[in-house]
Amino acid sequence: MNQSEHNPGELVSLEEESSTALLKRAYGLETPGQARALYRDWASTYDAHLEDGLHYRAPRRIAEMLADVLKDTTAVILDVGCGTGLVADHLVRCGFCVIDGLDFSPEMLAVADKKTIYRTLIEADLEKPLEIADGSYEAAICCGTFTHGHVGPKAMAEICRTLKRGAPFACTIHNHLWKEVGFAAEVSSLERQGIASLELVRDESYFDGAPSDGKFCVLRRH
Ligand SMILES: C[S@@+](CC[C@H](N)C(=O)[O-])C[C@H]1O[C@@H](n2cnc3c(N)ncnc32)[C@H](O)[C@@H]1O
Repeated sequence: MNQSEHNPGELVSLEEESSTALLKRAYGLETPGQARALYRDWASTYDAHLEDGLHYRAPRRIAEMLADVLKDTTAVILDVGCGTGLVADHLVRCGFCVIDGLDFSPEMLAVADKKTIYRTLIEADLEKPLEIADGSYEAAICCGTFTHGHVGPKAMAEICRTLKRGAPFACTIHNHLWKEVGFAAEVSSLERQGIASLELVRDESYFDGAPSDGKFCVLRRH
């Protein structure tokens, strides 16, 4: 996420000021412990801050990009780094009805659980091997989780492992991480190994009205 394009002077309510402080913490994350603490503190206000305060558009856009390439609305989808479920909200609007969520924050998962839109919620760390059988899912989606101080590029191969052949994987990757942290190289490596290929990449913004700061991608599992 990148909030630098937003003028702090526009943020008038206490809730929005708090959101700015939490986003600053998100930029400064250095350890998994800090990330867990951030999302523990943010879980109850995350949706209001992101949607109402910052006009976070990425969940809707990446859900639409997945819907463009996945016509079977009964497909079993893994929402990776699902947080409070903003992506699944939009997947449901696109007609999808079988969505599992995965995140390492119990507090974010608890908010997602209250929405009763997920079939299953999985508490797991994306920096470690996932206890999910090969080829379990017909699609995966990941929004806002390949970003500063969050999850690194190696998780992409592990997510691909959980996908059936031919399954799409729609994800956002922050621009700053695309080359600097090795996401572009990881995508090339997946292509070279015949694991997945990059079908579509668009430069888009995470927030309404802000300059594009993300690569919005669709990969396809081979
Ligand atoms: C910016 S939020 C995005 C949530 C949701 N996808 C959205 O777009 O609103 C990033 C999420 O990634 C999760 N996360 C960060 N590091 C993680 C890790 N190593 N394993 C699993 N989840 C992680 C956080 O708990 C948080 O819910």
